[in-house]
Amino acid sequence: FKPPYPPYDPQDKSGFSYATVLKRWPVIITGIIDHVHRLIHDMTMEAKRLAESGEDTLEHVKALKDKVEEGKEIISKASRLKYRMARDQELEPIPEDGDVDVDTYNAELANLATTHQNTWFTAPWLFAECYLYRLFRSYFNETRRWRNFDPFFAQKEDMFKHSATAIYQIATSMHELEHEKERLKSNPDNLLLLFREMIQMCLWGNATDLSLLTHLKPSDIEDLQTVLGKDTQLARQAFILKDDQEVMWEHIKTLGGSGKRCDFILDNAGFELFTDLVFADFLVTYTPYFSKVVFHPKLFPWFVSDVTPTDFESTITSLLSTTFFPETLLPDTRSTAHLQEMVMRWRSYLEQGTFVLSTDITEVNGQKVDGKAMVKFWTEPWPYWNMKERASQLWGWLHDSDLVVFKGDLNYRKLTGDAMWPISTPFTTALGPLAGTFPLLSLRTNKADIAVGIPQEIADDLDRKGENWRVSGKYALVSFEPRAG
Ligand code: F6P
Ligand code: MG
Repeated sequence: FKPPYPPYDPQDKSGFSYATVLKRWPVIITGIIDHVHRLIHDMTMEAKRLAESGEDTLEHVKALKDKVEEGKEIISKASRLKYRMARDQELEPIPEDGDVDVDTYNAELANLATTHQNTWFTAPWLFAECYLYRLFRSYFNETRRWRNFDPFFAQKEDMFKHSATAIYQIATSMHELEHEKERLKSNPDNLLLLFREMIQMCLWGNATDLSLLTHLKPSDIEDLQTVLGKDTQLARQAFILKDDQEVMWEHIKTLGGSGKRCDFILDNAGFELFTDLVFADFLVTYTPYFSKVVFHPKLFPWFVSDVTPTDFESTITSLLSTTFFPETLLPDTRSTAHLQEMVMRWRSYLEQGTFVLSTDITEVNGQKVDGKAMVKFWTEPWPYWNMKERASQLWGWLHDSDLVVFKGDLNYRKLTGDAMWPISTPFTTALGPLAGTFPLLSLRTNKADIAVGIPQEIADDLDRKGENWRVSGKYALVSFEPRAG
């Protein structure tokens, strides 16, 4: 499938893509350099202390020293990358590092070279950004002692810790629902209001991704996280520029019976993942329809804050730990008990297979599959419209789903190919051949130029008011596309 419009790229200096290559990526690369630098400084000190005190074996000291040397190598590669990026030099082939998709990326690079779109300020934004995170991966893969290191893990954890206030509030709201459970389940119309609250919580949970919020303080994040409760939702309603919530609810009601499956194509770890889990919990615990939710993470650190399988597991552990959140943010013991109760339920869902991580899938349509190999598609640079050809097993899996929720901005860019569609293009058109394959819901706060399904007048009006509505993260889209036929 080839859309009638090219993808966004940084050649247009007024686009967000240009600002990204010029300013945001260098900040992210510098963040990696600083982080590794701090770690190797601590390791050097530790090696010195051990050697002097004779406390530990020589092997341990040697291992630390080796790790320091490899860390220096990583820093020098990242610094070189920053230098080359600022000078609009070529994207270099990814080295053969024994991990997924080296050939995929390098073949596309060679392809872009034929049209001279293989430098940092000429390459399509979507491709270049995916390539960047795969390239970072190779820096760590090429070492012995940093191989599985996630340079963003500490940042993700730290931000998650600062989400405590909103997390406890949501846990208490969910606890209060306990008494309503039967009444809600027995009459789907009672569920609609709650359903809207859940969707919006999950939607605004996407406002806090770390690749965009390079400049925010934890207190700003807290403001963004005030997401549950009718008043907040009413106030935020005006910022949802395309709102398919009711259409989608009609779809869910037609599902009938129980035993349905929902798939979540995850975006960010931390608070957003927490809201995804709450929504998933709502679907299986409070609606009569769903009995299984499958979560699709990324195989390696991606777009700073995206969920990896490790993040997924540590989220559950952290939420159950009594020492994870800073003491200053802890509410009364009632709320802590509410959180425990909810997350213990999630843990039992994971044990029973009600909640599943897609990397653990072993069979699709009666055929054995390797879950890990199947989900590598999410860290490839491709738009989703050719999913059937590029990732047939994954496509087969999603084809059987009763609802596939795509979280976040990057998933939206991939759903629409990040192409320069006119704003009023119907969502279904921008999806290309993926439209109608399975019931598809995209929940996205706007953090990139692309947007479709919005009347031209509304866009013009926002532009006239000088709103930075395409990229500020303040506006959002709830786009639903049903299964065809
Ligand atoms: O545009 C900002 C940005 O960092 C994009 O580069 C990327 O598409 C997106 O935000 C990541 O956001 P999300 O976590 O919502 O996918
Ligand atoms: Mg993300």
